[in-house]
Amino acid sequence: MKKIPMMILAAAAIAACGPKGDPQLGKDSLDKVIAAMTIEEKAHLLIGTGMSGNAGNDPVIGMTQNIVPGAAGTTYPIERLGIPAIVLADGPAGLRINPTREGDDQTYYCTHFPIGTLLASTWNQELVESVGQSIGNEVLEYGADVLLAPALNIHRNPLCGRNFEYYSEDPVVSGKIAAAYIKGVQSNGVGTSVKHFAVNNQETNRMSNDAQVSPRAIREIYLKGFEIAVKEAAPWTVMSSYNYLNGVYTSENPELLTTVLRDEWGFKGMVMTDWYGGTNTKAQMIAGNDMLQPGRDTQYTDLVQLMSTGEIDMKVIDRNIKRILELILQSPKFKGYEYTNKPDLKAHAEVTRQSATEGMVLLKNEDNTLPLAADVKNVAVFGNTTYNFIAGGTGSGNVNRAYTVSLLDGLKNAGYVVDESLKSTYESHIAKEQARIDAAIDPNDMFAAFSPKPLPTEYQPSRKQLADMVKNNDVALITIGRTSGEFLDRYIADFTLSEAENSLIKTVCEAFHAAGKKVAVVLNIGGAIETASWKGMPDAILCAWQAGQEGGNSVADVLKGNASPSGKLPMTFPVNFADHASSANFPIDEVANTNIINNTKTSFDRKNVDYTVYEEGIYVGYRWFDTQNIEVSYPFGYGLSYTTFEYGEPAIQAGKNETTVSVSVKNTGAYAGKEVVQLYVSAPKGALDKPVHELKAFAKTAELQPGESQVLTFVVNNEDLASFDEAQSAWVVDAGTYNFHIAASSRDIKATLAADVKGSVKKANNVLNLKK
Ligand code: BGC
Repeated sequence: MKKIPMMILAAAAIAACGPKGDPQLGKDSLDKVIAAMTIEEKAHLLIGTGMSGNAGNDPVIGMTQNIVPGAAGTTYPIERLGIPAIVLADGPAGLRINPTREGDDQTYYCTHFPIGTLLASTWNQELVESVGQSIGNEVLEYGADVLLAPALNIHRNPLCGRNFEYYSEDPVVSGKIAAAYIKGVQSNGVGTSVKHFAVNNQETNRMSNDAQVSPRAIREIYLKGFEIAVKEAAPWTVMSSYNYLNGVYTSENPELLTTVLRDEWGFKGMVMTDWYGGTNTKAQMIAGNDMLQPGRDTQYTDLVQLMSTGEIDMKVIDRNIKRILELILQSPKFKGYEYTNKPDLKAHAEVTRQSATEGMVLLKNEDNTLPLAADVKNVAVFGNTTYNFIAGGTGSGNVNRAYTVSLLDGLKNAGYVVDESLKSTYESHIAKEQARIDAAIDPNDMFAAFSPKPLPTEYQPSRKQLADMVKNNDVALITIGRTSGEFLDRYIADFTLSEAENSLIKTVCEAFHAAGKKVAVVLNIGGAIETASWKGMPDAILCAWQAGQEGGNSVADVLKGNASPSGKLPMTFPVNFADHASSANFPIDEVANTNIINNTKTSFDRKNVDYTVYEEGIYVGYRWFDTQNIEVSYPFGYGLSYTTFEYGEPAIQAGKNETTVSVSVKNTGAYAGKEVVQLYVSAPKGALDKPVHELKAFAKTAELQPGESQVLTFVVNNEDLASFDEAQSAWVVDAGTYNFHIAASSRDIKATLAADVKGSVKKANNVLNLKK
């Protein structure tokens, strides 16, 4: 193992007294330690130690990057005060560090777990917590201290390039899944950083875009998930976002970072910027953005200047420093934890394999095409991503894994015979396409290196090839893939199927159907795509998402019936992209980014680039589609199973402060399976305009055997029924009769029960307003 500089290892020695009798972190009071710090030490601690090559002449660059190579950042160590550097590393689908180190034979691969969207599709908080436990164990055993995850920005529009990292179009799903993830990761004694706080819903010009949003939509849609996560799971840190919100950078906004986050929600941890986020160091300090990451020399100079001239109140600085020290005190590094660099990757591969099956969403299954019948042996597999299965998205949400199981290998592992001639055809087609794509990429384009590469065009089998495939195989599978990532939003052409994809589905379906054989489509995607125009053709459609490094095995487990899919969509699949209300105000097919290091803003008036008006307000996702009664391809909350479920007579009980609803769910089919049940609530007519219904709770059954039932109980607190009234700056619950809908999706309501709820008004601060 590479030697770690002595200074960094000071953590282990902190018990001893400082060399000159200096106060020591952990032994002496924080106030004493802070009082002993020089202005320069404070300036260093308030920023990170830089990122190699990216921070000008910062003298500390590089001093800590060998602790865990490839980690996104560290804090600044101050040896004389017993303050170690702690390590901050991405990201949502697993720990992101370098897999190899110079002069070292050992490898440091991490497990690539399923993407956030798949985890949310499980609607299973217990399962997400257990995935979090495994991720957190890798954080701990590889020597990191804080995981820069979970990411829970709202899927405002299907084209956001980072939706794959995020959970849902609904804040309750986002918040509950995030809380479970945080609990799991933090159960290892390491921290999380809930990001990106807040309203970071597009990648186009992400460092300078001004999201212009009504306070009501901010509170009900964009902050609600963060509020749930902060209150239920107490993340150690929060990461502010890059964008402006109503004219102020989020990292410079005291209303967001102090008034709402701390005063209203009671957050006790530390806030850090997203990497290079914001521009005004003083404003960031005052706002309560305690630490600036990854740190650059101009910030250091600013801070020294601000402190030495008295331009900033030292109380503000010391408050921020204290929060950073409180974080360090909790860290494994400070506690001298001796990490092994050997997490149990085998056990975690099993965790990702199993968890992925539970988030896959069965969209269509005519005549029980799936699971594949027991006599299916020979499978013809079409589609490029079959052979290059996509484990997850690109950018900081990527994980350096040892391998990805392709769908082809997954099928083979499950005992299927895959058509070898098709395999070699595809391999040479993909190699040719890859060369064409690589040649078109500018090697000096820094975004290109970090961004998703275009995928190869789909191969079109000839008539003769198809005839052979039909003759030699029992069934056909077609994989349709998508990739996306940081810096870039998706294009319309990425949402719709290409001509080549359409014609592949059409020709394969026609050829196999003519011989009475079935076709299933597997979607290896990170976000919603267009399905309405082609979903009639195949017999079955399985949305497998980007399912992590064991993806091929997970899909094969589902196709074979070892696991029944029990995922449901955490977002709507619309008929047309333009059907989303937000599509009227979203950067479409734009490529625009600010200079990542200097945040230089060149223009202020390009619609959807410099500013984006969230004209749809709270009408995001199903809140829009269901209220307007717009036809969708697959509704929010939708997903089939191999088995069937029957909902029993529900019961409702109105308490003083909450309403309790329960319902029994019975497995009436032939397979074991789990069912996700959703509780939507419709409010009585009041002063505020409201969606036709809103999700307020959800639950998932255990695995029910055929014939078995389970009672699910949902408790909705009265205050969860509040809407935000801007006129009063208050959360208002209208008194009256509310309808509670027990549902299998937002469009499949099984029963409705009414209960009276008493009204209330809870004042909130009048903040985060739109600029006049
Ligand atoms: C991303 C964050 C990430 C950070 C550190 C930024 O570009 O937006 O999500 O945690 O980099 O890698």
